[in-house]
Amino acid sequence: MKVAVLGFGTVGVGVYGMLAEAAGLEPGPVLVRPGKENEPFKVSSIEAIVNDPAVGAVAEVIGGVEPAYTYACAALRAGKHFVTSNKALVAAKGVALNKLAREQGVAFLFSAACGGGVPFLHNLALARESDEILSLGGILNGTTNYMLDAMQRLGLDYADVLADAQRLGYAEADPTADVSGLDALRKIMLACAVAYDRLPVEGLLNEGIESITAADVAHFQSRGYTCRLVVSGGKNADGGVSAYVEPVLLRVGAPECSVLENYNMARYEGKCSGSIVLMGQGAGRWPTASAVLRDLSGILRGERYMFSEACAEGAADNSGSVHGYYVRLPAALAGEFEAESVETDGEIARLVTAPLSVQAMHETVKKLRAEGASVFFAAIRQ
Ligand code: HSE
Repeated sequence: MKVAVLGFGTVGVGVYGMLAEAAGLEPGPVLVRPGKENEPFKVSSIEAIVNDPAVGAVAEVIGGVEPAYTYACAALRAGKHFVTSNKALVAAKGVALNKLAREQGVAFLFSAACGGGVPFLHNLALARESDEILSLGGILNGTTNYMLDAMQRLGLDYADVLADAQRLGYAEADPTADVSGLDALRKIMLACAVAYDRLPVEGLLNEGIESITAADVAHFQSRGYTCRLVVSGGKNADGGVSAYVEPVLLRVGAPECSVLENYNMARYEGKCSGSIVLMGQGAGRWPTASAVLRDLSGILRGERYMFSEACAEGAADNSGSVHGYYVRLPAALAGEFEAESVETDGEIARLVTAPLSVQAMHETVKKLRAEGASVFFAAIRQ
């Protein structure tokens, strides 16, 4: 099967290189920006790809919702299988693309959009057919894991480790999506859609690592904690789903603490299987390209969809998830939370809250920040 590649950046170069070696697949035209067609296989018009009868599948690795969505629709309407690594696209338009692909009788697969090289969605889609998925979670952003690991283990500064993650090809073109938790949130949205037929597009909560300081790191490390950016999702008692992202303080020795550099650790809990954990590189050229190739090879074996026919957009409800938090904030605001312990150091207070809902925590901090306060918080897992 001849595969056209949309985009020739970090991942596109990897996909194109792997296609030349893959059994049953061959590299086709590559879509680049006008003026960048400096080699014969590069084209700058999507029409040249969708109108090419020799192209059987299109692999999109541009990122962002547009023009990727327009290109995806054009490829599917032309009867091409469509594979993407683009979480923003699938989180925003996945339900519509799933419907269109099914109408056209072609594949819509996106392993690489969640977990980089880790075959998380693929295994989740298999597991949900025979087991009930009770919960989902883990570490699904390589950039922030790389940054937190380097800050904590090597004592490096936030700005330096972010620059390193960008140089190594882990971060998004705009790394705000990584450090704000939005990239990880999009991934847990996709996992919920695969596991529960519900793509949550409202009621979502994401807290990233933008507020963490070297002093925060020193403080919780001295108390035996390591910080990771963790995604959580699951089925609520009423049949709804929860989906949120936040930094979590873990006791050294917790499994997530062994996730270093750009690695991801994806987890689901099946009613019968118990906890299943998958670990591997969550970002970077070759891990991500390997997931795109895995989908393309899967098409040759007859794989077609990750979302079921019933998959629809819905809302998340995080009001039932409750735990204690570590909070660093101006001392004058310490009374905003019911605290189990408070340490004050001049103008700064560091406290451990009584258990409260994820919803209440995120909303309270949003309000305090809107009033100008500098706040860092992380859930505490004992
Ligand atoms: N920026 C993403 C990450 C790339 O760091 O995980 C892989 O999805």
